[in-house]
Amino acid sequence: MPEKETKYLSVSDEDLQIGAAILQEGGTVIFPTETVYGLGADARSPKAAEKIFEAKGRPSDNPLIVHIAEEEQLNDLVIEIPEKAKTLMQAFWPGPLTLIFKKAECVPTTVTGGLSTVAVRMPEHPVAKKLLSIAKVPVAAPSANLSGKPSPTTFLHVKQDMDGRVDAIVDGGNCRVGVESTVLDISGEIPVLYRPGGVTKEQIESLIGPIQVVTKAKEGESPKSPGLKYKHYAPDAEIQILRGSMEQVEAYAKQLSKEHKTAILTFDEFPAFPDHIITYSLGSRNNPEDAAHRLFAALRNLDLQGVTYILAPEIPDDGVWSAVRNRLYRAAGENIISLAEKSVLFVCTGNTCRSPMAEGILKEIAKRERLSVSVSSAGICAGNGSASQNAIQAMQEIGITISEHHPTQLTFDKIQDADLVLTMTTGHKQMILQAFGQCENKVFTLSEWAGESTDILDPYGGDLAVYCACRDEIQELLEKGWRKLK
Ligand code: TXA
Ligand code: MG
Repeated sequence: MPEKETKYLSVSDEDLQIGAAILQEGGTVIFPTETVYGLGADARSPKAAEKIFEAKGRPSDNPLIVHIAEEEQLNDLVIEIPEKAKTLMQAFWPGPLTLIFKKAECVPTTVTGGLSTVAVRMPEHPVAKKLLSIAKVPVAAPSANLSGKPSPTTFLHVKQDMDGRVDAIVDGGNCRVGVESTVLDISGEIPVLYRPGGVTKEQIESLIGPIQVVTKAKEGESPKSPGLKYKHYAPDAEIQILRGSMEQVEAYAKQLSKEHKTAILTFDEFPAFPDHIITYSLGSRNNPEDAAHRLFAALRNLDLQGVTYILAPEIPDDGVWSAVRNRLYRAAGENIISLAEKSVLFVCTGNTCRSPMAEGILKEIAKRERLSVSVSSAGICAGNGSASQNAIQAMQEIGITISEHHPTQLTFDKIQDADLVLTMTTGHKQMILQAFGQCENKVFTLSEWAGESTDILDPYGGDLAVYCACRDEIQELLEKGWRKLK
């Protein structure tokens, strides 16, 4: 787009008059709101709205939010105001809640991305309020970032993205909430939440009853809220959400930072990381508002430092955390890495022959293939002492020591803790399902897991040759199946 001469405005009455006049004349003005900065233009004018799409590089089917200063302005924009909407407006306007209504004729489809509905919000920020009241026009305003980038929450971030792309920018300091408004479609039978934000699902439901939540586009379907289909809020660095213990996260970060400039989003309660790993705290684990306030600034700051990877912890999914989680996970393109070890439990009758051999063999394969698995075994009716002498010897022949093994009894806890339970026979499997229930999806016979069907019979009482044959059978199945543990 051709370079514009961007005017920089303060929040003085005089400057806001200038900003309002630019809006009235069909120009573009960036202004602070309590959520993030917005890139505004007259919502009644298709031409003015087009300038927004151009400045942001935004796809034209992604609709804009219309900002108003007075409730009366809503009457001109929508054809009906449902009762539930009135309740929510009463409680949360002005504030970070956007409501989607059936649109009136006068709202151009440029603003609504061709939809028959329109999103409206009344911001609470004093500067936004004043600018909108002086301008006296409804103002379409998406977040003032280049399309796909994190929304700007400071004047500096706005300037970085938008200098020369808009007519004016009002410097209003930092935004309080830090993530965009909650978006709720109130135009249909059941309200649908498309974007979690500062007003939470729990707060909404306490006033108007159950709502639906649709924050991801289903694959192959075109989403009701077009914004859902675009990658969003993304910094240049690759974000990875890490699932695992603190120790695993630290080990992973250390490893990655050997070759790449690596940063990690932390909370104040986290232990310190080595100096060469850049840390950026989102505040306290107990303060989602603070995390929301800091998130986008964190992503932009780390980009400026030129990091290649931004590692992030898992975020809860309730209250204001939902908004933080939604932005972070979308910025990450749902790139979630599980560091937790998979745990595999082998089960036979006495835990003296078959399952200890299977345990020994899988541990060996795991070492060889660098699989992150923890392996154990147990018996439905566990014996005493150690593994049977023939089992120990059969394993010794292939270089695996199981002489330290002690038979242990299968318990409910062991089943619960395991990600995968592999039994020697169908009988064992059925016993487990009957005794413990609700674990069908992780209990298999070793054969069926490896794509075969025969049971592994008990070598107990047999000579060494019988044990060796049993060992080979188990080994063959594990060699077939281990890739599933990757
Ligand atoms: O906090 C905010 O809402 C900020 C500030 C500036 O007010 N604005 C903002 O706008 O975040 P934007 O354009 O970045 O996000 C608008 C979201 C998009 O995901 C869009 O798809 C959705 O609202 N949306 C807008 N109109 C819609 C409609 N008629 N139906 C469904 N979704 C709609
Ligand atoms: Mg946006």
